[in-house]
Amino acid sequence: MNTQPALPKSVKIVEVGPRDGLQNEPQWVSAAVKIELVERLARAGFPNIEAASFVSPKWVPQMASSAEVMAAIERRPGTMYSALTPNMQGFDAALAARAGEVVIFGSASEAFSQKNINCSIAASIARFEPVAQAAKAHGLRLRASVSCAFGCPYQGAVSLDAVADVVGRMRDLGCDEIDIADTIGVATPRHTQAVMARAAATFRLDGIAGHFHDTYGQALANIYASLEVGVQIFHASVAGLGGCPYAKGATGNVATEDVIYMLNGLGIHTGVDLDQVVEAGLFISEQLGRKGASRAGNALAAKRTNL
Ligand code: HMG
Ligand code: MG
Repeated sequence: MNTQPALPKSVKIVEVGPRDGLQNEPQWVSAAVKIELVERLARAGFPNIEAASFVSPKWVPQMASSAEVMAAIERRPGTMYSALTPNMQGFDAALAARAGEVVIFGSASEAFSQKNINCSIAASIARFEPVAQAAKAHGLRLRASVSCAFGCPYQGAVSLDAVADVVGRMRDLGCDEIDIADTIGVATPRHTQAVMARAAATFRLDGIAGHFHDTYGQALANIYASLEVGVQIFHASVAGLGGCPYAKGATGNVATEDVIYMLNGLGIHTGVDLDQVVEAGLFISEQLGRKGASRAGNALAAKRTNL
């Protein structure tokens, strides 16, 4: 008798490298390189690319070219281009830039909310309200990210109740999708399942996304654990780019190449071409002057040069 839980047959991968990946990059990355990266990723077949962030350039200088990037990228049919929008100023910029989806981002931790967006959780929800209404009025998709759902760099443990509370508030704003984010990469598989199950008791399971940073090397295991409880959307960053400017020591998101390699092996459909993701990873790593952080990406690239 097979007692293993059934895994989803297909999964949506949201490629967040151009935003979450590059936002923390200390060296300036030109708009031309960002544009080329987004276009290469779109050609690889991602249904959703987080391409821009309309936040204060004083807070996150690397994202200051977001409007330029969004204006220049060739829009591929079937690809949703998303942008972070912390307030109405960000929303107006995202609308002008023809984003298909706007992303409001809050936190399950009070301390992180203050550090990241300079206000309390309650104040952030009040700020998101007009953004949510405007997104609906303009027919844009609305996504929310819940940071520090598994732990906070400032306050430590974060309770399941705190996660459920913010997920419920985001649901009430009319979000189409809600990301449960491990900002500092501390989660382990059983904890992941508990948080995901609790989020799924508050919001539709097929609208919940796993956003795992790989700081402690647990991200792939946490994705597998999330698959076991039926999560079907995951974020990943090509070449494992990134970190969070307000979570010291946090490394990048789980590398996209590693996630797709695992999903391919599990027979789970993503619609994304791994070879083209590897190419995109080599491109951005070369531009940044360092080796990419994806184990699968590096292995596949080495295999190619050894042929
Ligand atoms: P604030 O200082 O509280 O806002 O910042 P304010 O309304 O008082 O405005 C202050 C200044 O910022 C003004 O400019 C505004 O014009 C400007 P000044 O008059 O001083 O010249 N401003 C803006 N400029 C451009 N675009 C805007 C905007 N809003 C205000 N949208 C704010 C509040 C949220 C804007 C600020 O704290 C901020 O930008 N923070 C950056 C947060 C951020 O980008 N964090 C990283 C992304 S989240 C993340 O990575 C987590 C995630 O990956 C999930 C996970 O892993 O956890 C999603
Ligand atoms: Mg993140």
